[in-house]
Amino acid sequence: MKCSVILAHPHPGSFNHAIAEMVTGTLRQNGHEVCFHDLYAEGFDPVLPRDEIPRGAVLPDNIARYCAEIAAADGITFVHPDWWGMPPAILKGFIDRIFRPGIAYRFQEDDSGEGIPIGLLRAKAVLVLNTSNTPSCREQEVFGDPLERLWKDCICGFSGVPLCHRRMFGVIVTSRSEQRIQWLEEVQELVNDLFPSDTS
Ligand SMILES: Cc1cc2nc3c(=O)[nH]c(=O)nc-3n(C[C@H](O)[C@H](O)[C@H](O)COP(=O)(O)O)c2cc1C
Repeated sequence: MKCSVILAHPHPGSFNHAIAEMVTGTLRQNGHEVCFHDLYAEGFDPVLPRDEIPRGAVLPDNIARYCAEIAAADGITFVHPDWWGMPPAILKGFIDRIFRPGIAYRFQEDDSGEGIPIGLLRAKAVLVLNTSNTPSCREQEVFGDPLERLWKDCICGFSGVPLCHRRMFGVIVTSRSEQRIQWLEEVQELVNDLFPSDTS
């Protein structure tokens, strides 16, 4: 399988980086071809310019390469912290620029954009791994866990990905190393479940 892994966290020593390392290592162990992107390290520009919006726009080379990779991926993993109930802006901009018409979705020929989109992504599964500092009951009761809706319906459902599995790890700020080791083991299990070895 071709597997893309997209990480959005500015600090190389973060738990998000440890999660991403576990994801890429497990995917490689399972024999998959891995394309890993640390968006901050790559200096990804998240601002969608006006000229790129129309379908069929001429894209900068790096954006065209990201688009081709995401279109060809059999599985995609996103790793990011919860920032104000949203992904960090760098990842929001990645979705704006890469999950574009003709790559992630299209509308019917006679539709001017108001109809039901047809998802185009080839990926059969998306894994979303989040971290936060809010206890899960407060996240549900007070904030309604906006990331759940965003990833499952607004992004994966829209783009035609049949399975979106999401796990929020937390509370990070008070967690001890034994807890973090357990969480990383859980990450490994999730990757093995969603993206097993091609021979298994
Ligand atoms: C700009 C910003 C916004 C944040 N917003 C939230 C939030 O809405 N809910 C929450 O639980 N944590 C929030 N946090 C805390 C981060 O989610 C937390 O630092 C991160 O998940 C810890 O992971 P790390 O150890 O990999 O950095 C925010 C942090 C920053 C810097």
